[in-house]
Amino acid sequence: MAKMEVKTSLLDNMIGVGDMVLLEPLNEETFINNLKKRFDHSEIYTYIGSVVISVNPYRSLPIYSPEKVEEYRNRNFYELSPHIFALSDEAYRSLRDQDKDQCILITGESGAGKTEASKLVMSYVAAVCGKGAEVNQVKEQLLQSNPVLEAFGNAKTVRNDNSSRFGKYMDIEFDFKGDPLGGVISNYLLEKSRVVKQPRGERNFHVFYQLLSGASEELLNKLKLERDFSKYNYLSLDSAKVNGVDDAANFRTVRNAMQIVGFMDHEAESVLAVVAAVLKLGNIEFKPESRVNGLDESKIKDKNELKEICELTGIDQSVLERAFSFRTVEAKQEKVSTTLNVAQAYYARDALAKNLYSRLFSWLVNRINESIKAQTKVRKKVMGVLDIYGFEIFENADNSFEQFIINYCNEKLQQIFIELTLKEEQEEYIREDIEWTHIDYFNNAIICDLIENNTNGILAMLDEECLRPGTVTDETFLEKLNQVCATHQHFESRMSKCSRFLNDTSLPHSCFRIQHYAGKVLYQVEGFVDKNNDLLYRDLSQAMWKASHALIKSLFPEGNPAKINLKRPPTAGSQFKASVATLMKNLQTKNPNYIRCIKPNDKKAAHIFTEALVCHQIRYLGLLENVRVRRAGYAFRQAYEPCLERYKMLCKQTWPHWKGPARSGVEVLFNELEIPVEEYSFGRSKIFIRNPRTLFKLEDLRKQRLEDLATLIQKIYRGWKCRTHFLLMKKSQIVIAAWYRRYAQQKRYQQTKSSALVIQSYIRGWKARKILRELKHQKRCKEAVTTIAAYWHGTQARRELRRLKEEARNKHAIAVIWAYWLGSKVRREYRKFFRANAGKKIYEFTLQRIVQKYFLEMKNKMPSLSPIDKNWPSRPYLFLDSTHKELKRIFHLWRCKKYRDQFTDQQKLIYEEKLEASELFKDKKALYPSSVGQPFQGAYLEINKNPKYKKLKDAIEEKIIIAEVVNKINRANGKSTSRIFLLTNNNLLLADQKSGQIKSEVPLVDVTKVSMSSQNDGFFAVHLKEGSEAASKGDFLFSSDHLIEMATKLYRTTLSQTKQKLNIEISDEFLVQFRQDKVCVKFIQGNQKNGSVPTCKRKNNRLLEVAVP
Ligand SMILES: Nc1ncnc2c1ncn2[C@@H]1O[C@H](COP(=O)(O)OP(=O)(O)O)[C@@H](O)[C@H]1O
Ligand SMILES: [Mg+2]
Repeated sequence: MAKMEVKTSLLDNMIGVGDMVLLEPLNEETFINNLKKRFDHSEIYTYIGSVVISVNPYRSLPIYSPEKVEEYRNRNFYELSPHIFALSDEAYRSLRDQDKDQCILITGESGAGKTEASKLVMSYVAAVCGKGAEVNQVKEQLLQSNPVLEAFGNAKTVRNDNSSRFGKYMDIEFDFKGDPLGGVISNYLLEKSRVVKQPRGERNFHVFYQLLSGASEELLNKLKLERDFSKYNYLSLDSAKVNGVDDAANFRTVRNAMQIVGFMDHEAESVLAVVAAVLKLGNIEFKPESRVNGLDESKIKDKNELKEICELTGIDQSVLERAFSFRTVEAKQEKVSTTLNVAQAYYARDALAKNLYSRLFSWLVNRINESIKAQTKVRKKVMGVLDIYGFEIFENADNSFEQFIINYCNEKLQQIFIELTLKEEQEEYIREDIEWTHIDYFNNAIICDLIENNTNGILAMLDEECLRPGTVTDETFLEKLNQVCATHQHFESRMSKCSRFLNDTSLPHSCFRIQHYAGKVLYQVEGFVDKNNDLLYRDLSQAMWKASHALIKSLFPEGNPAKINLKRPPTAGSQFKASVATLMKNLQTKNPNYIRCIKPNDKKAAHIFTEALVCHQIRYLGLLENVRVRRAGYAFRQAYEPCLERYKMLCKQTWPHWKGPARSGVEVLFNELEIPVEEYSFGRSKIFIRNPRTLFKLEDLRKQRLEDLATLIQKIYRGWKCRTHFLLMKKSQIVIAAWYRRYAQQKRYQQTKSSALVIQSYIRGWKARKILRELKHQKRCKEAVTTIAAYWHGTQARRELRRLKEEARNKHAIAVIWAYWLGSKVRREYRKFFRANAGKKIYEFTLQRIVQKYFLEMKNKMPSLSPIDKNWPSRPYLFLDSTHKELKRIFHLWRCKKYRDQFTDQQKLIYEEKLEASELFKDKKALYPSSVGQPFQGAYLEINKNPKYKKLKDAIEEKIIIAEVVNKINRANGKSTSRIFLLTNNNLLLADQKSGQIKSEVPLVDVTKVSMSSQNDGFFAVHLKEGSEAASKGDFLFSSDHLIEMATKLYRTTLSQTKQKLNIEISDEFLVQFRQDKVCVKFIQGNQKNGSVPTCKRKNNRLLEVAVP
């Protein structure tokens, strides 16, 4: 749909003009320029009315895709740019919808693109016509017939690598729905001379090369062929390989196509056997041999090849050999055999090869037809496609019989073209009710007549010559022509009787020239007779008929001796004339569609447009004529609806909508535009415009108007776009603003909220604190109240208590007083009764009760059992004071006893000693208290253990009580020396501290007294019994740290040994016997000079002073 709107007419976006009818001015130059311009823009198709001119692009263009097919499908012819598809579509649709048989006539010179065009048409029709399995098979068969025919009928020529060397007409048959049913192919004039000889730079038919390149070894062996092209005389070698052509691959394609078309395998092989036989025929060579009768004779050089051909074809070798050596002519029941010379033998060989091949080709076409023919007998619609050579004009005088025939065919086609075009034109005028005006144009009927006239036409004369008895040569034929056609205005020859050409030396001898509608062509007469005869010696055809190879046999039915026909076979010329006549008849019944192919250059190259070459083709194709014929009446015509649709914008009444019939719309439009009346005519359904200028004026106006409209649309569109944009922006702005406001408000709100929260929290805090304060105040008040109340209650209570106590006391006092009073009253009353003993009894009882209570209480208040515990409960009653003290003492004694009871004997001894010491020194000697804590060890010096005192120890037998070092005070000067002081049970010993030698030994009985001061010193004197042995040296004065212990032990030992209490005198002044003298030892207190150590000093004979700190 989109595309339809883009392009509605051929006139849109035209490069040059799409239709030559519109060319202004019309001449050869403008024509060519237009073609060139379009060609340069890859527009290879141009119309002349309904004729399509196609210029071969020599490159693949992207204009045949399935999309393009769709684009052109069901569209009007002038709706889109010129295209072969438009023509195909038009033809197919009028076939299908209007029930008109169609023919598509494709002409042009070799290499102009005819065959491609025919294939394009077929493929387009195949693409748009019905679908379905059956239909597809038919289509496929029709399309696949092409590769088969091309392999056998096409060859590489200098003009075209794939040049069709035969004319082809194919009828495609359709049913009423337009589905293909089948087809019929007719072939015309295969260029069979190519089989035996090819011009330089050209090849034989493709199939030979394909077979040799593509066949398997097996197949080649079977066909007795070798792969090497150079082995075969019939294959030209200089161009055996064609660029871009893969013969081997093509061979496979062809085999495949044959299969699709319906060839049985054996059929395909038979065909290839014939091809092989033709190839091998070329290798048969002859040599001359003189015979006795003087006639030349030929002989086959190498019979091997012949043998193989015979094996291949199933012909008796001798039969074939004979056929190559003799020629039998039968005339009037007589058989005459003549030998063939070498030249004749070669002629015969080539004739056989050509015939074999061309008959094979015809057989192929028939075979294909058999496959593709419509199966049903229903009425068919037909589309014919004619792909035939165009005019062939070689330079110089190279044109021969073939060109003559071809050009004749083209002349006929031109004739039919003119006829049909004019007829159609005329019919349209009548149909459209337009007045027919005479058209002046060149009618080539006269040329056709020159060639085909049955009495004096060139072909008739040629046949006449060929059949004439006597020597017939090309020269005699030319002579005849000179006589008969001399006056014909389109015939020229050097020997023509026509005085005009008497002097015409430009014409070579043995040539004639025909002025065809497309130009003058000079024909060389040489070979005309021969080619027209197309002679194959009967011996050869008979030999072929004898072949056991069924296909070959069937190709030569005239070889059957039973059907011997003395009548000569029709000449090539007459055959062709007849087939052309049939073709023309056939075409005349159909609606023609023309495709005129033009070759832009001779190089088969893209993008090159050789004007001279194109000019030549335009001329002989009569394209200008074509345009003129087309333009004879009205150059342009168009149905009213599309015309109105296209130009309605040019007039206010018709724009934008015309209500009413299209025709009146167009009338209004043309009136409004003031187009001269003679320039156009109104037909029934179409407007006819006489001059292209008018159309172009309309187009210009339209273009101008379209621009204005475009501007208008643009303006409105821009306005609309801007407005929409603006509205969108506005909308967007509002949205953005709304969003922004929302955002801002949200933010503000959040700020406010948070501030509110802060304030709120402060206020709440403040409030809470206030409340707290209040609550605290209240609490305090409550507490205060409670306290006050408590106090008050306390006070009250205490007051009450006091009152109650007071009351109680009062009551008690009252009671006591009362009791006393009562007592005194009672006593006063009962005094006289109780005075004797009651008081005493009460007293005793009370006392008893009190004592009882005292003891019970004491029991509970007893102090601990430790002897040193000084606690003792206080005394409850004064009168029990002595008891209480006594009790204390008893308790103490008891607990001391308890304590002592725990002691061991040794402990007891120690305590006894301590007790003794206490008795002796307590409160008497100041040194005593410090000794209480010291344990009495006695043996401080361990004499037993010290080896130094061994002797000392040995000297003492008794138990040692004290062993201690003491200071013995020198009586002379008061100085001291250390002495070991030993006390045993009976003696007191002093020994030297160092040596351990006993210095003095005093029996305890001799010790009378021990003196010491009352002070805190360790001095003591041991007084000895006067007159004893020991006393001779006087008393001892010692100082010791263990004075108390020594004194105590000395006391106790003395007591236990002597049963006498040792006298211990404690006094700060006592006398000591020093030999004869008595010295007073005096203790002075307070001398601090020597620190804490007491010092001893001899003051005079009678005084020894000891300073105690
Ligand atoms: N429409 C086309 N597009 C592209 N190449 C083309 C077209 N027509 C022809 N040709 C080329 O030109 C060559 C000759 O075309 P062909 O149809 O065989 O010529 P003709 O049949 O007229 O002798 C083709 O092989 C092809 O390469
Ligand atoms: Mg061709």
